[in-house]
Amino acid sequence: MSGYALDNSWEHANRRLTLLERMLDPMTQRRITLLGVSQGARCLEVAAGSGSIAKWLCEQVGPTGSVVATDINTALLDPIRLPNLEVLQHDIVASEPPGAPFDFVHSRWLLHHLREPEQAIRQMIDALRPGGWLLLEEVDFFPVHASSSTVFREFMVALVNTVVRPSGRDCFWARTLPETVAAMGLEELGGAGEFPVIQGGSPAAEFFELTAVQMRDQLLATGALAAPRLDEALQLLQSPDLWAFGGANIAIWGRRRFN
Ligand SMILES: C[S@@+](CC[C@H](N)C(=O)[O-])C[C@H]1O[C@@H](n2cnc3c(N)ncnc32)[C@H](O)[C@@H]1O
Repeated sequence: MSGYALDNSWEHANRRLTLLERMLDPMTQRRITLLGVSQGARCLEVAAGSGSIAKWLCEQVGPTGSVVATDINTALLDPIRLPNLEVLQHDIVASEPPGAPFDFVHSRWLLHHLREPEQAIRQMIDALRPGGWLLLEEVDFFPVHASSSTVFREFMVALVNTVVRPSGRDCFWARTLPETVAAMGLEELGGAGEFPVIQGGSPAAEFFELTAVQMRDQLLATGALAAPRLDEALQLLQSPDLWAFGGANIAIWGRRRFN
């Protein structure tokens, strides 16, 4: 069952997820390139969102490869037309991903929204061919605590806790991802983490601002932040004088065993 709070059918969802992609795609593309996904590969992009990585993978694998992009809500993926891309509505917790086996399976910023992240990881591993690569990227907001602005810190902690409320998880969970994946029998495991330094008024700042706009009622209902403090934070996010730390993108990769 999905606990996702940020519906892709919201009127500004495409803008919001495009801003997320601008923040994260350079990190993701570097990691996928290092894993060696190349021409002819068959790929699965789970929870593809607005689809930038699915589209980029289509270029990497070329006409002899193929990409399946899934999401519980494919509203932002359906308009994409590429000859080697298949878009499918699918809940990664509920059933096996369609179209297996894959040479490469990737998911980003999904697991903290799920009540059963281990079940989703297991489905992704099972969808790999022997020797195929899994790359998971998840956010852990620990760098936020080291930001100098008290308003930013209070805002971010209240916001991310609100976002994951329906799933019963927290946004400081990705630190446990390495041992979770390591227990699942993959080989050639590796990991890395990286976080953006955010200036007010930047695309990354606008991503968190739009997330707060979408979640405003739920955030205020938690009582963690009063409306004037929230509005102060939203103003701060537009100020070029703000410099703060965003969530750390924690990447874990590994290969399905050949036997
Ligand atoms: C924060 S967005 C990340 C989108 C994209 N992976 C990215 O990093 O740009 C989370 C995405 O997960 C999708 N999602 C949430 N629960 C899901 C589930 N159970 N199965 C598949 N997709 C899911 C949402 O619809 C949304 O598109």
